[in-house]
Amino acid sequence: MRRPMMAGNWKMNKTVEEAVALARAIRELVGGVHPVDRVLCPPFIDIPQVSAELAGSQIAVGAQNMHWAANGAYTGEISAAMLRGVADYVILGHSERRQYFAETDEGVNRKVLAALEAGLTPILCVGETLEQNERGETHSFVGGQVKAALAGVTADQMARIVVAYEPIWAIGTGKAATAAQANAICGGVVRNAVGELLGAEAAAAARVLYGGSTNEKNIGEIMAQPDIDGALIGGAALKAESYVAMVRTTAALY
Ligand code: PGA
Repeated sequence: MRRPMMAGNWKMNKTVEEAVALARAIRELVGGVHPVDRVLCPPFIDIPQVSAELAGSQIAVGAQNMHWAANGAYTGEISAAMLRGVADYVILGHSERRQYFAETDEGVNRKVLAALEAGLTPILCVGETLEQNERGETHSFVGGQVKAALAGVTADQMARIVVAYEPIWAIGTGKAATAAQANAICGGVVRNAVGELLGAEAAAAARVLYGGSTNEKNIGEIMAQPDIDGALIGGAALKAESYVAMVRTTAALY
């Protein structure tokens, strides 16, 4: 059985002090061994202190981005090597990065390969715009994003990758995809694309999250879907009580 995951994407929120306080509150409410993988992804500058706060708690830390190069003249960037030791996960190809920072499928692919090489677990994000959705292009576009991002990845490496399907029209809008819609894309498109690249076994084992306006009210229905293995949570992950409620609801289903 695939382990469920609740990953919080804090985006550009929380000073170091605020981030440590949020991590501490989450740890106090839901630390220790647990059937649900919990990953908190604060801004880069918060990561070392959040990581120290969570030491020994079984709650993992992730970054929200990284550069593909190991080091060098890339002003303002952070490499996988710099994240190692303070983070185990890294969100890659989030739609906000693609939209506002011109990230391309090719760049995301380089980042995925570099993260794997450095021993980090990528949380690879894919998802279509409202216009693409309305034009009926979701399947081809999202399938293409998955295949492009995973080019050159082996089946062994795939076991360490998490994919998050996040329709752009659902992110931060309060309009989540229906559980059935989300399940259809997580299974019929994302998992299917992994299968076309790496075979049925890799597809069956692939962990696929849904993201986009998830909260403590809709998470039960979403997590009851057979092809959804977790959530990448934005807004609701900024409140300890909401995030922990989502973790608890998920735990009760496994
Ligand atoms: P949201 O964000 O839960 O606030 O919609 C999700 C995300 O962007 O990962």
